[in-house]
Amino acid sequence: MPVRDMAIIGAGYVGLVAGACYAELGNRVVCVDSDEEKIARLRRGEVPIYEPDLPQLIARNAEAGRLAFAAAAGPAVEKADIVVIAVGTPPLPSGEADLRSIEKTAREIGASMNGYKIVCIKSTVPVGTAEKVERWIAERYAGGFDVVSLPEFLREGSAVADALRPDRIVIGTSSERAAAELAALHEPLAAPLCVTDARSAEMTKYASNAFLATKITFINEIANLCEKVGADVAEVARGMGLDRRIGSSFLRAGIGYGGSCFPKDTNALVQLAGSVEYDFRLLKAVIEVNREQRLVVVDKLQNALGSLRGRRIGIWGLSFKPNTDDVREAPALAIAERLAELGAELRLYDPAAQRRFREVFDHPFAVWCESALEAARGSDALCLLTEWPAFADIPLAEIRAALDRPLLIDGRNLFDPREARLAGLEYVPVGRPVPELPAARLPAMEPPSA
Ligand code: UDX
Repeated sequence: MPVRDMAIIGAGYVGLVAGACYAELGNRVVCVDSDEEKIARLRRGEVPIYEPDLPQLIARNAEAGRLAFAAAAGPAVEKADIVVIAVGTPPLPSGEADLRSIEKTAREIGASMNGYKIVCIKSTVPVGTAEKVERWIAERYAGGFDVVSLPEFLREGSAVADALRPDRIVIGTSSERAAAELAALHEPLAAPLCVTDARSAEMTKYASNAFLATKITFINEIANLCEKVGADVAEVARGMGLDRRIGSSFLRAGIGYGGSCFPKDTNALVQLAGSVEYDFRLLKAVIEVNREQRLVVVDKLQNALGSLRGRRIGIWGLSFKPNTDDVREAPALAIAERLAELGAELRLYDPAAQRRFREVFDHPFAVWCESALEAARGSDALCLLTEWPAFADIPLAEIRAALDRPLLIDGRNLFDPREARLAGLEYVPVGRPVPELPAARLPAMEPPSA
């Protein structure tokens, strides 16, 4: 297998994972980031993001001399056969993707070009960006090169596994040479290749994320309806998921999607549609429903407790999903803000995301807890907002014993309703019925205070 020299520009989430994985495949990779401190940390072996398996992968490849880090793009680009752009495209206030880092990077690449190279765009970018990148590079370099849209589909928390075992590789280019070289680069991954034009590849990324966000939102609305008609959304999802046309993934009902991608990319796609005078009504509704779904937790608390003023509410889980410390667009943030507005006292715990959450939510009535049970202790209710596996291991009887009032709002349907009832919890899941149990089988419960 030929060894390529690769420069990855942007050592954020996508760039670091991609860099480490391409090195793992045997290539010589330099990850570049203008943040000198980040590069210094990476050189010392410190990984700035929380991602299972990534530190080991980086260490192994750095030691083998296949992975290096640099603050300047120039030398890495000069040496590279393949350059990958993985800089951020944060949303502008309008929801549109901000392409300033992409433009700056493309011009830098243009200035360092010294022969044919393939420039891949891994950042999620609006349709038409590959053509813009081509123009920005061509302003500085008159020789031959190809720009390819190479969207990244990895998930946080399982990024390494996703990158090494992808469902497909989408390669967007009209250049046969670039398509053949990228097919060879990804060959060891044994994933289906989807070679297409750049615009379709760019759209594939947005469409995939928008579809998954829609699928989650759909099951969340079915869950809300299940509550009204006495059906169980977990059973419904199981029955639906067995239909191969539907598939079972992304049918977990709960308190809505968050994270750095779905909220940003759905908004960006609505913006993109608007810019060509297309009203993407379905996706607008998804965004709206998802925003409201987070607050079902607050409604459920109010239904059980009445006013939340002065109530102590334990919160389990602050990251937008398990196995990450990322709190961007985490449902927990909207929920905590609303509860604080309503005068509740919050006792917060997360196995990894506490520090990051504190940076965005600092409230005088917030108590930061050292353990899950400490957050439950003395609380009038416990809300589970992220389904960290460790929470499922805590015996329900211990949760019951820690709480002042044994009310558990399970925003992610982590627990079994029957077992929760048997443990004496007043259990409130999303879209699932809770079996009535004879009072004699329940431990004595304090009457709810007014
Ligand atoms: C997502 C895409 O999956 C990935 O392909 C893309 O590259 C980036 O965006 P990520 O944001 O890391 O990845 O997380 P993902 O596992 O997809 O979950 C996103 C959100 O949806 C989380 O808040 C999660 O809790 C929620 N979700 C997911 C549900 O509520 N129900 C589900 O069934 C699945």
